[in-house]
Amino acid sequence: MFAIPWFVILVTVICCNGNYERERLLRQNLSKHYKPEMLPVLDSYHPLQVNVKLYVMALQGLEDKSQVLTVSVFWYFTWKDEIFGWDHYLEYKNISRLTVKASDVWVPEIYIVNDIKDMPIRSYGDNKEYVIVKSNGYMTWFPAKELQTSCSVDVTKYPFDTQACSIRMEAWYHDNKSFFLNTIGSGIEISEVHFVENGEWEILNLSSYPYQNTDYADNSSAYSCIGYTLILKRRYAYHLITIMFPFVILMAINLLVSVIPTECGEKLGFCMSQFLTMIVFLNLIAQNMPSSSLTISYLTFLISLQILISGVTILIVAISIYSQTRNIEDIPSCLVRIMFSPIRYFLQNDSKKCCIQAQDSRHEDFFTWLDINKKINCSLNISLFLNVVATVSIFVFVII
Ligand SMILES: *[C@@H]1O[C@H](CO)[C@@H](O)[C@H](O)[C@H]1NC(C)=O
Ligand SMILES: *[C@@H]1O[C@H](CO)[C@@H](O)[C@H](O)[C@H]1NC(C)=O
Ligand SMILES: *[C@@H]1O[C@H](CO)[C@@H](O)[C@H](O)[C@H]1NC(C)=O
Ligand SMILES: *[C@@H]1O[C@H](CO)[C@@H](O)[C@H](O)[C@H]1NC(C)=O
Ligand SMILES: *[C@@H]1O[C@H](CO)[C@@H](O)[C@H](O)[C@H]1NC(C)=O
Repeated sequence: MFAIPWFVILVTVICCNGNYERERLLRQNLSKHYKPEMLPVLDSYHPLQVNVKLYVMALQGLEDKSQVLTVSVFWYFTWKDEIFGWDHYLEYKNISRLTVKASDVWVPEIYIVNDIKDMPIRSYGDNKEYVIVKSNGYMTWFPAKELQTSCSVDVTKYPFDTQACSIRMEAWYHDNKSFFLNTIGSGIEISEVHFVENGEWEILNLSSYPYQNTDYADNSSAYSCIGYTLILKRRYAYHLITIMFPFVILMAINLLVSVIPTECGEKLGFCMSQFLTMIVFLNLIAQNMPSSSLTISYLTFLISLQILISGVTILIVAISIYSQTRNIEDIPSCLVRIMFSPIRYFLQNDSKKCCIQAQDSRHEDFFTWLDINKKINCSLNISLFLNVVATVSIFVFVII
């Protein structure tokens, strides 16, 4: 009864032992004449074709402030190693593939040149990388890496912006006569199995373009490169709620300045608090922006404009309060009258008369502080209204 299982186990052990022994011999045999540093081609007339595809596993984020794109990726590299194959050894025919350490075979030396931390794709420190070898010599290598590439962020259209970031992969030490990088298909893809969405950025488009760079030292040779472009779009819902809503409300409240009567002493205080709120608000936005003068967002510009207008409003309200406190009988000086009513002044050809007669015109109700006050308030209301119209149109036509 128990004889059959025992027999099976025995056969399995023998069989596996046989496999183990054969694989050990094969590995020994393969590595005996192999130098991992040497390009694995028999004749060096044709460059080794290395085919590459990049898979994006997760978009960790794009920092506006430090201008760094963090993305987790893995590559699919495949090439034919003409030395490390065992198709021609009859006794190893049954072993179809081996997994070997990346340090034991030749793997392409490739750098991500705009990575700010660690340029080589291959991690040299720990021996954790493996390469899959088929019996006919086809190698498959899946190095994975968290890339931190520099990406110049253009914040002009801030919450509604789209960024183009590039990842540049280059074969620095090997010219195009030793090996050549080709893209597989589109060259870059989202890894459907591993992909994790990012809360702030959405990937719109991924593309790749192979190119060649001339060698710095010797301009007769070139090395092979592949550039990847990621088009990212900011998800603006959060920014719309946290920045746009308060901004619109602040602007609407600013309009109230024209409703509050000057007699009410609170008017100046109200304008002052508006001014401070705008400054705090600008600070809040500036915290998320790169401190670059190359691109300034329209939003920062708009808020700075609001601060300016708030400041001017305070000035006008102060003048208006001043004119309110003057006695009606007081006649404004000639200069003030010219400032506030230049047309009337110049129409009245006899300008000298105007100034000299200032004292006499008292009874004519010619031009009093009350008129000035009315004028000031009227122009303030008009400019506040124009400000809202201008801001809304910049918003609608430029930013969105
Ligand atoms: C490798 O294996 C082949 C075929 O089995 C054999 O002819 C050759 O002598 C072996 N070479 C080494 C170095 O073991
Ligand atoms: C290969 O494996 C098959 C079944 O696993 C076996 O029948 C055959 O003898 C093996 N060939 C060699 C060369 O070991
Ligand atoms: C992605 O961008 C490339 C290059 O700009 C373009 O050829 C391709 O059509 C775009 N794909 C999509 C889905 O928009
Ligand atoms: C390469 O560099 C040399 C020396 O600087 C220059 O004379 C030559 O024109 C260059 N060739 C090319 C193709 O740029
Ligand atoms: C390699 O680079 C040289 C120099 O730029 C160029 O002339 C040659 O065509 C390139 N080879 C290939 C296969 O592209």
